[in-house]
Amino acid sequence: IPVEPFELVIFGGTGDLTRRKLLPALFHRYLDDQITDDSRIIGCARSEMSREAYAEMAREACIAATSDSDWTDDAWDSFAKLLDYQQLDISAPKKEWKPLRSKLSLDDRACIYYLATAPALYVQICASLKKAEMVTSASRVVLEKPIGRDFDSAAKINDGVCAVFDESQIFRIDHYLGKETVQNLMVLRFSNTLFEPVWSRHHIDHVQITVAENLGLEGRAGYYDKSGALRDMVQNHILQLLCLIAMEPPNSMDADEIRTEKIKVLRALVRFDEERARTHTVRGQYAEGLVNGTPVPGYLDDLGEPNSSTETFVAIKAEIDNWRWAGIPFYLRTGKRMKRRTSEIVIQFKNVAHSIFGSNGEDANKLVIKLQPDEAVRLFLHIKEPGPGGLRIKSLPLNLSYAENFTVRYPDAYERLLMDVVRGNLALFMRRDEVEAAWRWVDDLIAAWEGVDKKPDDYTAGSDGPVSSAMLLDRDGRSWWQGQ
Ligand code: BG6
Repeated sequence: IPVEPFELVIFGGTGDLTRRKLLPALFHRYLDDQITDDSRIIGCARSEMSREAYAEMAREACIAATSDSDWTDDAWDSFAKLLDYQQLDISAPKKEWKPLRSKLSLDDRACIYYLATAPALYVQICASLKKAEMVTSASRVVLEKPIGRDFDSAAKINDGVCAVFDESQIFRIDHYLGKETVQNLMVLRFSNTLFEPVWSRHHIDHVQITVAENLGLEGRAGYYDKSGALRDMVQNHILQLLCLIAMEPPNSMDADEIRTEKIKVLRALVRFDEERARTHTVRGQYAEGLVNGTPVPGYLDDLGEPNSSTETFVAIKAEIDNWRWAGIPFYLRTGKRMKRRTSEIVIQFKNVAHSIFGSNGEDANKLVIKLQPDEAVRLFLHIKEPGPGGLRIKSLPLNLSYAENFTVRYPDAYERLLMDVVRGNLALFMRRDEVEAAWRWVDDLIAAWEGVDKKPDDYTAGSDGPVSSAMLLDRDGRSWWQGQ
């Protein structure tokens, strides 16, 4: 279904995110007839560039992100007509914003300002939009992560943006929420009768959330070294996954109903002090090793700085102090340069209360939700191994593989999220209080780590992370799911 015609201004219009994600996402939505020819996309950046040169840059970006079978020059030529470019130094005075303003109709169609710039510029851009009289009730603003680097800086950004836009006009992106399999988490939980009755401390032993990457710094050393895995991945993506697994059923799919349930989880997370940081968390940094058979340097060599103690891996035993989850560990881990790229959630159920099969009945049921790659839902059940011998029990999965069941192309997260911005649907975007609550929890942990003052543990690139990560679970008599 096509969305209503819109106008989109991308600040940071020549940047990496715009080229890798935003323009290809818009092009794919256009190919699927979701964007009509009366919409406009205006890239905006500091460099001088003609409209034609911008369209050429966009063409190259879109070719790189589109399969040969989807690409046609005709489709590109008509999409390119939607594109425009405006040179603008965002620190320039009001009169220099006029050319951009004159490109917009500022009527009642959605006018979206996408801030694909450094977060340090968000407040200034919003203030300038207001000064230039470019904010109406039809305006929307999209903010990329990271929103701040701690609670105070996030609150400052939020104050500045909220001084210009109403909360209902602010779309804070966490691209994990746009992934098909992440959206499926709510469907899995709330539209199947099977799971909800057992979705609590009474039947679940623990939960594991892993987001492992085999990539390294990918040219983002400057940003990453100031951020580290906790700020880069846990504060946003992993906590969002945790919320979707742990939240109470919302009353409806209304954005605020969902966000209100998520924030209750964030507020119930047990906060860190130094003692808890020591016993419940692991920080790691990759050393040289082999990733997919290719030798890669260690983090410090990648960075060219021998003294950084930034973590590229983190494992956390998190706990949620509420009725549903009290006492149930949520083991979270993420890292760069790990063995393989995989994001998955494991719900480990408890053993049966009394096994009549003796030790054969151990290795209890688990639900494995594979988010990427090889998207799948696997429910491991016990069955009897066929044969006349003794009664042998095996744990085998009921396997729901996306690839086997759906042959359609999975849209990139940004395709879904951009269309939701146009539709004004905030359900998959973070509310101010969510971002800030996540920072409060992360801030405590960072302060505790600073107090403990311990260098991150080494792990070999291409491994599962530091040994201490395995020990974190081993101490509880558990281990990380090895995949199947
Ligand atoms: C980004 C992080 O938010 O997410 C990156 O800044 C990370 O460091 C990326 O690589 C992972 O996203 P995806 O979609 O590839 O899992």
